[in-house]
Amino acid sequence: MSVKMKLTAEQQAILDGSQGETLAKVMETLVRYGELFGADSMAPVTSQYNHLVTSFGLKALGPVYDLMDKLIAEGAASKQPFSADPRPVDKNVPSSFLQDFVFRNFMYTKQDFYEDQLSKLGLMDRDAFTCACYLDQVGNTPKEGDVLSWSESSAVVYANSVLGARCNRNSGIIDLMGSVVGHVPYFGLLTDEGRKATWIVEVKTTKKPEAQLLGSAIGMKVMEDVPYLVGLDRWLGTLDDAARTYLKDFGAATASNGAVGLYHVEGITPEAVRQGRELVAEDAQVYVVDDAELQRVYDSYPVMWKDKGARPKLCFMGCPHMSLEQLTTWTERVEQGLRDSGRKKVAIPTVFTAAPAVIEQFQATPYGERLKKTGVVLSYICPLMYMNNPLSGKMPVITSSNKLRTYTTARYYTDDEILVQITKGGD
Ligand code: F3S
Repeated sequence: MSVKMKLTAEQQAILDGSQGETLAKVMETLVRYGELFGADSMAPVTSQYNHLVTSFGLKALGPVYDLMDKLIAEGAASKQPFSADPRPVDKNVPSSFLQDFVFRNFMYTKQDFYEDQLSKLGLMDRDAFTCACYLDQVGNTPKEGDVLSWSESSAVVYANSVLGARCNRNSGIIDLMGSVVGHVPYFGLLTDEGRKATWIVEVKTTKKPEAQLLGSAIGMKVMEDVPYLVGLDRWLGTLDDAARTYLKDFGAATASNGAVGLYHVEGITPEAVRQGRELVAEDAQVYVVDDAELQRVYDSYPVMWKDKGARPKLCFMGCPHMSLEQLTTWTERVEQGLRDSGRKKVAIPTVFTAAPAVIEQFQATPYGERLKKTGVVLSYICPLMYMNNPLSGKMPVITSSNKLRTYTTARYYTDDEILVQITKGGD
């Protein structure tokens, strides 16, 4: 088959069917997709692992299961082992009888079947279900310069920005196709030009800005463009565990409140450390974020609850999944908050979500028992999957995740406000 794009001999052979009809079709789809975006070549995927966004066995995803079956039958499995987004249900998370019934009998009826398919296709570990796959405990951490075929927006923006890998914001199916065929169209964030910043964001706040709020403000302003942040290094110091956690939450908010796939932080992220302002395009626009701007953004969030004064029924923390550092510091904060209010347990049912591997490591430390004593539930689910149905949508849920706020009826509060609500609320 002849196409406009310049292909290597290997890529052309796949397109001509050397690895079977299905992979030829997959290659053709990727080539056509790339041509739409002006790509004139395909780049080999170089990361050790892939990451899949589709982790939930929704009844409605028939075509995905069919494609998976075809790939398994053609032996396309295990070319690139992968992690996947979080599981949608966990019996430890508080839910009503009716919610359970809907989850199990109407929504996620194909969960076991789909997990079985994922295992056959190359899931890196039986429990490799998390959006924060890049954390050390999970082990899917791309190297700088690696080319990826990922799709989970919070993971893509982290891999590009904090790890210096190269990945476009793909759809779930393009992600899967790129991974099984081992090549992705070369355009956008894979190229040096596409990684240049077209916005300078000057952070001029009087205290460390809330990660989720700053990310939201920048996402809504720059949309899919690349921002270069100056002034944030003052609050982050160096790229240690706390800074990585901050950037994880910040990035997820830029990616969901806008469509950011890459940001640079002066003095902090790898490309900005090496190339500095050479990364900024000549005609870059400027956005100044100060305390008043963050307050304006916060005040602009609509409250989707029917009864705006309702008492929260549930609190979700960990979208994206929490890091070990975050679980530890939050355990201390919740304990302190409870001591201050004279309570033994949290006042609102509260769920912290994290990767199964992070939960395991956390529970092996004394902090695991300490958090349990506060009444906080630890779970591996995706809060969005829990919320995404009319029954849960009616519940007054609070969160400090701007991604969860954007896609569901959950109400956003800052971390400090959440702490007050869960440790003092209800008095
Ligand atoms: Fe992760 Fe689910 Fe939030 S995949 S980023 S916990 S929406």
